[in-house]
Amino acid sequence: MSIIFDNEKKLFTINTKNSEYIFQLLYGKFPIHLYYGKPGGEYEEHKVNWIAFAPYYPEHGVEYTPDLCKREYAGFDNGDFRASSIKIRNANGDMSTDLIYKSHRIFSGRLELPGLPFADTAEDTETLELTMIDELTGVEVKLYYTVYAEEDIISRYVSVTNSGSDKVVIEKLMSLLLDLPDHEYDMISLYGQHWKERHFQRHPLHYGAQNVFSRRGASSHQFNPFIALAAKDADEISGNVYGFNFVYSGSFLDEVEVDQQGFTRVQLGLGEENFSWRLAVGETFTSPEAIMTFTDSGIGQMSRNFHKFVKAHILPPEPFAQRPVVLNTWEACYMDINENVLLEFADAAVDVGIDMIVMDDGWFGERHEDNAGLGDWYENKKKFPEGLKAFVDKIKSRGIKFGIWIEPEMVNPDSDLYRAHPDWCLHCKGRTRLESRQQLVLDMGNPEVVEYLKNSFKKTFDGVAIDYFKWDANRHLSPVGSAILEPECQGEAAYRFMLGSYELFRWLKETYPNAMLENCSGGGGRYDLGMMKYSTMIWTSDNTVPSYRIGIQHSSMLAYPAATMSCHISNHHNICNDPRQLKYRFEVALGGALGYEFHLPHANEEVKATIREQIKTYRKYEKLILDGEYYPVANPFEKNYSAYYYTTEGRDKFLLSFLQFSPEENAREITIPVLEANENAIYLEEFSGKSYTGRELRSGIKVMTDNTDCNSTMWSFILQ
Ligand code: DGJ
Repeated sequence: MSIIFDNEKKLFTINTKNSEYIFQLLYGKFPIHLYYGKPGGEYEEHKVNWIAFAPYYPEHGVEYTPDLCKREYAGFDNGDFRASSIKIRNANGDMSTDLIYKSHRIFSGRLELPGLPFADTAEDTETLELTMIDELTGVEVKLYYTVYAEEDIISRYVSVTNSGSDKVVIEKLMSLLLDLPDHEYDMISLYGQHWKERHFQRHPLHYGAQNVFSRRGASSHQFNPFIALAAKDADEISGNVYGFNFVYSGSFLDEVEVDQQGFTRVQLGLGEENFSWRLAVGETFTSPEAIMTFTDSGIGQMSRNFHKFVKAHILPPEPFAQRPVVLNTWEACYMDINENVLLEFADAAVDVGIDMIVMDDGWFGERHEDNAGLGDWYENKKKFPEGLKAFVDKIKSRGIKFGIWIEPEMVNPDSDLYRAHPDWCLHCKGRTRLESRQQLVLDMGNPEVVEYLKNSFKKTFDGVAIDYFKWDANRHLSPVGSAILEPECQGEAAYRFMLGSYELFRWLKETYPNAMLENCSGGGGRYDLGMMKYSTMIWTSDNTVPSYRIGIQHSSMLAYPAATMSCHISNHHNICNDPRQLKYRFEVALGGALGYEFHLPHANEEVKATIREQIKTYRKYEKLILDGEYYPVANPFEKNYSAYYYTTEGRDKFLLSFLQFSPEENAREITIPVLEANENAIYLEEFSGKSYTGRELRSGIKVMTDNTDCNSTMWSFILQ
């Protein structure tokens, strides 16, 4: 049993393998948080240290002074001046929301979240449902705690049911609240922009709010929903770390606030800036799911908890026995593609052992540049004179798989779709329709739009042997309004957009069950757990320049497993004709699933021969990389190199990488410890043929820095 309720003490205890979470019902009514940490750790009983200017309920006395308590969920304007978890506008027009405990149940398994991505259940999954009620309005809020004991993950979400007699409007809704009794932590979060996703930042918590968020209708390049709080002394291998993430792909709010008492409030949810929801009598709204983990074994262990959970409960099953190595046309051709170009690519791909051709943007409608065609999902007959099916059959006859690019949620004003349905894009009545990359965003909350997309795709793709879809999304949402929503429901448009997109993702997967889905949003602009529910992998970034990529891959691995990262070698300025660069880029790409974005037909014989060998090497280590356990050793945001290794559960193999990305005038020796090696064992290093003792590996492998920007070494240690 992972969840226990002690009726006498009114105490809930939630246990995962290596963590414990405890809260208590004060007066049997108010859930007060007591502890989250390693099992059996010490904690202080609830007590209020009286501080002035804190409102309390006269009938309960100061012991329940909301502003001074550590809480499980915080209503709005009921004496707690910290960030609230829920704001509901009632028929009186105020937003005061006051929740008290009504009942609870504990059951095995979990509930589904209607229309949303959520983690799969496992044999040992257990759920606590805590029902709270706002007595004035009759609104019921259920808090869910679903336990994944094996992975040390607790998932949290809420549902809101209007059991009253008047409609209400939800103005803010958070999925997870955690009140910690201290603030001696560093916050880790991932910021960025297009071409620079997921850059690592770590800073001490300060009094006040330090939030990360997206107001863009996409989880975004600018901030990732993942955050962590790490003890000051926590590093990759030791120290207390709390990690959090959100299973959603739209706008989000991660709130971290240190209050007057030095408590830290952490919340993840939809927030309020891009969201409101009218809830009629009898209706229920369910929030997306947020997850949290605790470890006392450092940042690396937090990542491994997340990796294990994502692989076991989020990612869809692999459609192929082996991940295909792809050759994507984008970097080589942009939109200048046609049947002949693709066939030439396919022949070159077959020649070097690549498994799949991915035909990127430019194959449909009047899509010759990025100013036209989005929305018109039929092949351009000038580029594919015999039609898509005949063309794909020709590709497949070469014994290679075929993938195709789509961008379903978007429309160009210069398209047949837009000319026929100008009101099908998100817009606010009377306001300019702002363009980004010369495109508008479809109103995916409008069922007619989703239906149109399903029908177009069916018409174009049915009967065509497609093995892979690359689903792109190249702009953010603004202004956000919907032609089909009443004025008081316009605040729902961004959330309904996401529900419509998820509906289309599910449909695509059900309709083409043998196809694999790669997600993309101008690179990794929706690198989140919501997308991962439907996508086998995500295009990590449009930026494949190693000095950026190394960092982007390192930070992605903080929260997401290697199996989610598409890592392509591209060849801007023919840099890969330099054998050292080709080797370096390959070793960088070996962080995840390998692919190429190359003009392969133009490559010389030496390059082709190298690629042949690279693919063989990748195949040898693929399982270790995509399924193995990841141990980061050096953070490239703190040093001018990255170092990490993948290993097996039995520790019989280690694949260690060292990647230096900025030159040093004076070479120096770096030591990279492989701490998981068995001290008394002997390991053979495959590339050099040298043997090492486990003790040597644990005390560190030595490598020299140099004065280039492409210094890399890999070691493969095999237990003897
Ligand atoms: C942005 C993606 O990140 C690229 O890989 C490519 O697919 C282009 N869009 C196509 O327009």
